[in-house]
Amino acid sequence: MKIFIDSADLSEIKKYMSWGLCDGVTTNPTICLQCGVTGGKKGIHARAEDIVKLISPHPLSLEVTTDDPEELLKEARAYAKLGENIAVKVTITDREGNSLLPVIHTLVSEGIRVNVTAITTFNQAILAAKTLESACRKASSIKFPHYVSIFAGRISEEQGVERAFKVIQDVRAWLDLYGYSNIEIIVGSVRSPENIEYWGRAGAHILTIPPSVIAKSLQGARTKETVAQFIEDSQKSLKKLR
Ligand code: E4P
Repeated sequence: MKIFIDSADLSEIKKYMSWGLCDGVTTNPTICLQCGVTGGKKGIHARAEDIVKLISPHPLSLEVTTDDPEELLKEARAYAKLGENIAVKVTITDREGNSLLPVIHTLVSEGIRVNVTAITTFNQAILAAKTLESACRKASSIKFPHYVSIFAGRISEEQGVERAFKVIQDVRAWLDLYGYSNIEIIVGSVRSPENIEYWGRAGAHILTIPPSVIAKSLQGARTKETVAQFIEDSQKSLKKLR
């Protein structure tokens, strides 16, 4: 399973790259704001440019800021120019529930990598996968995986963590059964170490995790106390070994 860092913080991303823990990055305007990005769309663009360079060839998923199909196409095409490792995050529907699959089909047909996002059900995931797969065949460009992002945290806020687990598990089984080897599941809206522990076993290809949750996940109930005891014991033993 791959781990993506859900952030726009360059130093955090750099840190987890150097630990070998970062297989990619996901971000969105809200995360950019929390990470101190300023300057509107230009600011997001500039930060994305820095992340793309920093993590290349690993992918950066960057979310569009509109649900208007025409504007969305324009913005996605501009993002795609940032680098080969950009995946444009597009929500599966607009805010009224109208399908954005036609836009997604167009982008993928043009050879742009897409991360279909805000998915909360099995049905949405398989419909998105079909669109991605058919557009890939049209473009005859299977250079890199496309993504379906299941927002497990948001599913569990409404329907519980088990429901989120089941959606991830069923989508993975379906992708494998029908040979969708070019589509990967990203599990998003991970909020706690317990989420990683549970959903990390559901069959996702990727978990995208905020740096704060990775930091918490390094802590175990008795780890610090155990290390302190090890050091103390070692020093006592070393003295006697003289
Ligand atoms: C992942 O791609 C998303 O950026 C992220 O996980 C957002 O989730 P949230 O808006 O539910 O926190």
